[in-house]
Amino acid sequence: MTAHPIAAVVLAAGKGTRMKSSLPKVVHPLAGRPMILHLLQTLDDAAISPVIVVVGPEMAHLEAILDGRKVVVQKERKGTGHAVDQTRDELCNYKGDILVCYGDTPLISSKTLSRMREVMSESSETKLVVLGFEPDDPGEYGRLILGERGLERIVEFKDASQTQLAQRYCNAGVLLADVSVLFAALKEIEPINSASEYYLTDVVEHARRQGYFCEVVRADENEVIGVNSRHELARAETVLQNTYRARAMANGATLLDPSTVYFSFDTVLRSDVEVGPFTVFGPGVTVGRNVNIKGFCHIERTNISDNATVGPFARLRAGTDIGYQARVGNFVEIKNSALAEGSKANHLSYIGDAKVGKRANIGAGTITANYDGFSKSHTDIGDDVSIGSNSVLVAPVSLGDGAITGAGAVVRKDVPADALALSRAPQKTIKGRAVTYRKARGAGAKKS
Ligand code: UD1
Ligand code: MG
Repeated sequence: MTAHPIAAVVLAAGKGTRMKSSLPKVVHPLAGRPMILHLLQTLDDAAISPVIVVVGPEMAHLEAILDGRKVVVQKERKGTGHAVDQTRDELCNYKGDILVCYGDTPLISSKTLSRMREVMSESSETKLVVLGFEPDDPGEYGRLILGERGLERIVEFKDASQTQLAQRYCNAGVLLADVSVLFAALKEIEPINSASEYYLTDVVEHARRQGYFCEVVRADENEVIGVNSRHELARAETVLQNTYRARAMANGATLLDPSTVYFSFDTVLRSDVEVGPFTVFGPGVTVGRNVNIKGFCHIERTNISDNATVGPFARLRAGTDIGYQARVGNFVEIKNSALAEGSKANHLSYIGDAKVGKRANIGAGTITANYDGFSKSHTDIGDDVSIGSNSVLVAPVSLGDGAITGAGAVVRKDVPADALALSRAPQKTIKGRAVTYRKARGAGAKKS
């Protein structure tokens, strides 16, 4: 049998009180992206459409993140069943099945969704498919009560007896339902339980009473972590990071100490990249082939070209472009700047709002003074330029191809191509003066 078309409802109206946060729960990030966007991406990848997100009132921040997606507002939070019922007008005449997902369960895979669809299409008597899992610690998840004919009901933690709590098969919070069975059951459910809420989970019992079958598809625990607290957020982050680490290595990167490397949802590493320990990739990073990122680096919104070397202890901020075979060394911060092919900034520098030409050498301790307290200005450094150590390049300023600056220069005026710019005061050397100085300070002869 072919799978039915499906629409999805994503529940995100809950306040997430257990997070103890002013942000809606589903906006909290995992791998640098609001958790709900991970789930919506999976639904998009599975070509599920339409997708309706149920949000709460006064959730402008969430709606902004949803960026024009179809949203329905649940004005009063009366439970997950009530939340799904808010989509009745939009979906009750939909010709297909409805997938209900919780925005706080974002790691579900499209493969698992396909398995649920397959089970649904296996028998015309099956009207509900629930995702179940068996965690080591079932905690406060709802428990699946199975009978001879499959799933009979779901009992919420707060309402479960000790015997029911003793069994570990839990509701993951993903439900696939026949549209008419779902909306008929939602009309029937009542908030008679310890939370006084309309539980979505009660639709199972109603469907069974009508003689329909409810099946359970088993999922891996890591895929269905429900994020209700900061602790669970951290667990979900670990699961996701382990997935990304495994993927990076499978794609040909070496991670010297995988558990200390942190990725964003969109990090791209090409083959033969080596990443040292304690490196964090923020959003928007692409790393070319044969790049060596030594340890303790923090990199975001940056492109690194093939054969470059970065770190240890480098910080690459938004808008950085590191050219082919360029080298960025320890304690170097770069922001909104391009370092062209073969250039080097090896020690203790800040390069901001600058363009550095090919094969240029930025001496140790060089600073681009890009901010005068009011606005940012640009520094233009040509090809083959050599900047002496401990220089300050006061922007806006440009240095032509092949220019050299002496150590300790404060460069405030443009330097033409192939010119030498010096700005330090001439050195004065007074013979024997060190001895007189020590005597004056009562120190006597030179210390050995
Ligand atoms: C829910 C399930 C539980 C399951 C667990 C899996 C119910 C009644 N219980 O419990 O069986 O084991 O998920 O993680 O469904 N929401 C709304 N409107 C509301 C209430 C909630 O949109 O009025 C949203 C929340 O934003 C959240 C989702 O629904 O994304 C689930 O709500 P939550 O309060 O986290 O339910 P759990 O207690 O985790
Ligand atoms: Mg939850």
